[in-house]
Amino acid sequence: MQVVDSIRGFRKALDEERRAGRSVALVPTMGALHAGHTSLIDAATRRCDVVAATVFVNPLQFAAGEDLSRYPRPFDADVALAERHGASYVFAPSVEEMYPGGVRTTVHVEELADVLEAAARPGHFDGVATVVAKLFNAAGPVTAFFGEKDWQQLQVVRRMTGDLSFPVEIISCPTVRAEDGLALSSRNAYLDDAERAAAPVIYRALCTAAALVSDGTSEVARLRDAMRATIAAEPLVHLEYAEALHAHDEIRLLVAARVGTTRLIDNLGVRI
Ligand code: PAJ
Repeated sequence: MQVVDSIRGFRKALDEERRAGRSVALVPTMGALHAGHTSLIDAATRRCDVVAATVFVNPLQFAAGEDLSRYPRPFDADVALAERHGASYVFAPSVEEMYPGGVRTTVHVEELADVLEAAARPGHFDGVATVVAKLFNAAGPVTAFFGEKDWQQLQVVRRMTGDLSFPVEIISCPTVRAEDGLALSSRNAYLDDAERAAAPVIYRALCTAAALVSDGTSEVARLRDAMRATIAAEPLVHLEYAEALHAHDEIRLLVAARVGTTRLIDNLGVRI
């Protein structure tokens, strides 16, 4: 396992791997790795010869007042976990390495640009798209792995990759959940015991609406109401939005909620 902290060093290492005929996978993360992240690394090791995980808490995707300063950073444990799952490289640049002299150029993707997370967190996806573009440029031609957990992010990254012709193949991986259904997230670490016990209501709300879809209900208002009602029954969880989007062959159900000071998101797709 090699930890690399410069863009130049990272590109050189991955170029050498490709020259030796090996396929390279990229798994971008902000660290505080859990079984959701390691499922991406596992999928990457199955598909490619060499796996590079990135660990960078990207200040550009946090708004003022969000949790940038308290975001968990257990770096040594992250490196050990990535290695245990078969990663050969961890790219962990400093903020100065990624954004020398500040930021005067950003990437804006219009896909789903004024709904859901984009509406709740103005500027967030510009920050995500910009850092992912920089990671793609640093890595070169790779297969990149993203979680369905952040469904809107996945759509934004896919759209950007196509629109800007990055030589990158995007693979999406299913959401990994705790036994009680709560989607694994680095932010779950902020929850106290009572909040942690209440948080699975988010998944139960998604499942309630998914059952309605399976029974033939596709009316968005009814799906929203069902999710709202489920979450309203849990006093520790405050709904931000419950939405149902019609995609081509599925209905995508999405929830954002606050549990104490912690903001959690989750989603579920149901084939129609
Ligand atoms: P982060 O929240 O650390 O997530 C890194 C990757 O892990 C993302 O693709 C995310 O969708 C995936 N992931 C998180 N929880 C998951 C779960 N429970 N099951 C499956 N996959 C999961 O997303 C980011 O970082 C950043 O926005 C990033 C893309 C790295 C850009 O800074």
